[in-house]
Amino acid sequence: MSMPVPRTLQATRYVTPLREGGSLPAIVEAEDLGMYVLKFRGAGQGPLALVAEWIAGEIGRAVGLPVPEIVLMEIDAALGRNEPDQEIHDLLRASIGLNLAIDYLPGSLMFDPAVPGQVPADVASLAVWFDAFVTNVDRTPRNPNLLCWHKRLYFIDHGAALYWHHDWQDLEQKARSRFAAIKHHVLLPWATDIREAGEAARAKLRRDVLEGIVGAVPEGWLGAATREGYVDYFLRRLEAADGFTEEALSARAQLV
Ligand SMILES: Nc1ncnc2c1ncn2[C@@H]1O[C@H](COP(=O)(O)OP(=O)(O)OP(=O)(O)O)[C@@H](O)[C@H]1O
Ligand SMILES: [Mg+2]
Repeated sequence: MSMPVPRTLQATRYVTPLREGGSLPAIVEAEDLGMYVLKFRGAGQGPLALVAEWIAGEIGRAVGLPVPEIVLMEIDAALGRNEPDQEIHDLLRASIGLNLAIDYLPGSLMFDPAVPGQVPADVASLAVWFDAFVTNVDRTPRNPNLLCWHKRLYFIDHGAALYWHHDWQDLEQKARSRFAAIKHHVLLPWATDIREAGEAARAKLRRDVLEGIVGAVPEGWLGAATREGYVDYFLRRLEAADGFTEEALSARAQLV
């Protein structure tokens, strides 16, 4: 498997803020004329939100979930110079340098579990296992962070995953977390094959794959965190996968 090396692009135009996003992400145009959703390093959530976005997003891709391409994006002092909004202005200034951006899916719609329709069981099952693995609480019916685009579901917004990386105490215990929050997962009703999906995903998350993903995080975003720390945690969590898999299975049994 080839290692995910993110492309690095220069942002050329601030198009519009995405007001619904808590961290005030924006649509920007880049030098390749593509449009991207930019997550700012200078946002209140801090650079670890970008680290989570990259690492969890690429783990999702590695196990086979559709995740829009993630790139690194350079912004300079000229970007948004004429933005009248002070909050945006400050955010741009605080984010000069490297940021993270996600391929913008034009015309996509947020998944709505209340609209009748089927979600493929393999996608839902893999998603439930993946979100438990990366401890992602942001896949609920109120905030699914799932885009429907060209009749396919795309997984976005992993900035709140890996919440343990804000405090590296007791990691051994945290790696064994059963992640009870999985009961709120928006795709749980369709996830009929969580165990099988998890076994297939586990086989793909080899040490070298994890090292490749973690190795691509820009040095300046890590703070006190270390790459070895992430890889070590993920290997421990894989060993403890039976616990969170059983938790997800029993949450689903309660539901249906
Ligand atoms: N790649 C994309 N293509 C199209 N629209 C997107 C994309 N990424 C995000 N969006 C839109 O922008 C909104 C905000 O993005 P996202 O959820 O990633 O940001 P956030 O600040 O982490 O949001 P929140 O914390 O409010 O969930 C999404 O709900 C979605 O409507
Ligand atoms: Mg979101």
